[in-house]
Amino acid sequence: MKENIHMFDHPLIQHKLSILRDKNTGSKQFRELVNEIATLMCYEATRDLPLKEIDVETPVATARTKVLDGRKLAFIPILRAGLGMVEGALTLVPAAKVGHIGLYRDPETLDPVEYYCKLPGDMNERDVIVVDPMLATGGSAVAAINLIKQHNPKSIKFMCILAAPEGMKAFTEAHPEIPVYCAAMDQRLNDHGYIVPGLGDAGDRIFGTK
Ligand code: PRP
Ligand code: URA
Repeated sequence: MKENIHMFDHPLIQHKLSILRDKNTGSKQFRELVNEIATLMCYEATRDLPLKEIDVETPVATARTKVLDGRKLAFIPILRAGLGMVEGALTLVPAAKVGHIGLYRDPETLDPVEYYCKLPGDMNERDVIVVDPMLATGGSAVAAINLIKQHNPKSIKFMCILAAPEGMKAFTEAHPEIPVYCAAMDQRLNDHGYIVPGLGDAGDRIFGTK
């Protein structure tokens, strides 16, 4: 595994992911779990945020202590399924801005089709974390990052819950410098570009469509 691919072996994440995979898990619980996993992953993905020292008056004395060094974050979900991870990420960084990129996979070609893009105006001042639960062929994530790079953010990370080896390879070949945070790597893609064993269609399961 390349050094900027961060896999998660935390028991809480693995346990929650097992419930997500279960076809009998309903939309309400599915949504809650996607958000909870996003929170846990975001904790790790923000580990390198810089700190500065300040003085704080405690009831007892002056403490020399640390706070975040004014870094501006943006979470950018790839619609629709990425929306499911936003609240979970915002739980940890409520001041972050949220951009949106709408992409869907053409069911025949599996190529991503862009239909929406609204990003914060000050992208060049922001550290970006792109969120999408699924990295399947990698087409959507690669296209989203291509788009975001045109706006010159300070840095970009990509956070997904499940990946197929094919998608991870495509992503790291297209964007080798971008750190990837991923909860689990599955076996393969099937003929329809679904991750096997996977969890099905993440967007449909989050929003109860189909
Ligand atoms: C899903 C998922 C990813 C994409 C991954 O979106 O949320 O964006 O597929 O597949 P890829 O790696 O092969 O591009 P989908 O196209 O199903 O749209 P939706 O989120 O609106 O359901
Ligand atoms: N998108 C999904 O939602 N699920 C997959 O398995 C592949 C792409």
